[in-house]
Amino acid sequence: MTTASFEHVSPVWTRYTDFVVTHGEGSYLYARDGRRYLDFTCGIAVTNTGHAHPRVVAAIREQAGKLIHGQANLAMHEPMLALIDSLRRVVHPSLDSYFFSNSGAEAIEGALKLARAATGRPNVIVFQGSFHGRTVGTMSLTTSKTVYRAGYQPLMPGVFVAPFPYVYRYGWEPKTTVDWCLEELRFLLMTQTAPEETAAMLIEPILGEGGYVVPPPGFLEGVRALCDEHGILLIVDEIQSGMGRTGRWWGYEHFGIVPDILTLAKGIASGLPLSGVIAREELMEHWKAGTHGGTFGGNVVACAAGVATIAAIQEEHLLENARARGLQLMTGLGHLQEEQPRIGDVRGLGLMVGAEFTAPDGKPDKAAAKQVVHECLDQGLMLLTCGPWDNTIRVIPPLTVSEAEIQEGLAIFAGAVRRL
Ligand SMILES: Cc1ncc(COP(=O)(O)O)c(C=O)c1O
Repeated sequence: MTTASFEHVSPVWTRYTDFVVTHGEGSYLYARDGRRYLDFTCGIAVTNTGHAHPRVVAAIREQAGKLIHGQANLAMHEPMLALIDSLRRVVHPSLDSYFFSNSGAEAIEGALKLARAATGRPNVIVFQGSFHGRTVGTMSLTTSKTVYRAGYQPLMPGVFVAPFPYVYRYGWEPKTTVDWCLEELRFLLMTQTAPEETAAMLIEPILGEGGYVVPPPGFLEGVRALCDEHGILLIVDEIQSGMGRTGRWWGYEHFGIVPDILTLAKGIASGLPLSGVIAREELMEHWKAGTHGGTFGGNVVACAAGVATIAAIQEEHLLENARARGLQLMTGLGHLQEEQPRIGDVRGLGLMVGAEFTAPDGKPDKAAAKQVVHECLDQGLMLLTCGPWDNTIRVIPPLTVSEAEIQEGLAIFAGAVRRL
């Protein structure tokens, strides 16, 4: 056992817990002190196949014994080609050209560079409350909280922010909210960034860090239509919502739209660093060789893990499980909301579920959300908060989660809410 303390760990890492984890299995994490935790964070929406899924572990072990680094510029490797094959079976067929990197932020940077290269236009429109990363480029695209940018401004220019239909926050009917947001988006194109200088609109189909906000029907369809009208590319950021999280492979599938450029990361390799930019070949053809890349992008072991991850999701019917367990979770939280008015809103798709806490005066209640998260941790359940006020608890179990584990999580959560 290491004797190192946290003293030399940079404080820039926000720490939710004080325990040192030793291993994980399925829905559970195990700490050095012997305690077991039901992990409904999935390491921030990454371990969609659960911790140490045997199939993924076997693929990693086998690949690590053969080749650990097979740099893509120097020699293409079999696992990357196999991963493209696997992804092509689950991504819309129009998205047929693939680029891989390591982290979500890198994929977003790549997608933006691709959009600029393909259109010859400079600007990008993002949506209020989105999170796209922490690099200088991506924090300029991120508006979910000021903490991600305070102290680092000025940021990259050419970024314009349109409203996202956060129905609970605005307090309007869903259709009114959608109509208003689309009108503001049109207005932005008239008043701040002309269509002919706008390369792309970049959007999360469901806001992640921004509060697990599901847009009502009509919004993404409206954004898609505006992009088509003006020759603007639509980049859909599926870094948190993709890889089966919402009960479908990709969040965009719930809204009947198809992106021009898709970004993925987090769940793709069950925890190994891997991300991707997928786009139509005719767009990728504008991306001149050498103008983007990276030493580690598309690592061979991570790609092998990605192939095993997709196979596990398909063969173990994990999308179906995510839908069934998501319904169980939403139903349980819905019943609790009827009994506990501090839960102002319950929303989500599949196993991407959020419960927003509101004080009796109607204001966002961060203190209540934090107290519930801490009490749940004491009782062995790991949860995260999100949203601009940090008052939404997000529940992100693995897609492998069982009915009994959801029940266990709901019981702990209900106990903590009742003690508020
Ligand atoms: C939607 C979305 N985009 C981008 C990112 C950035 O990914 P990374 O932290 O891997 O850079 C995140 C991370 O939370 C995310 O949720």
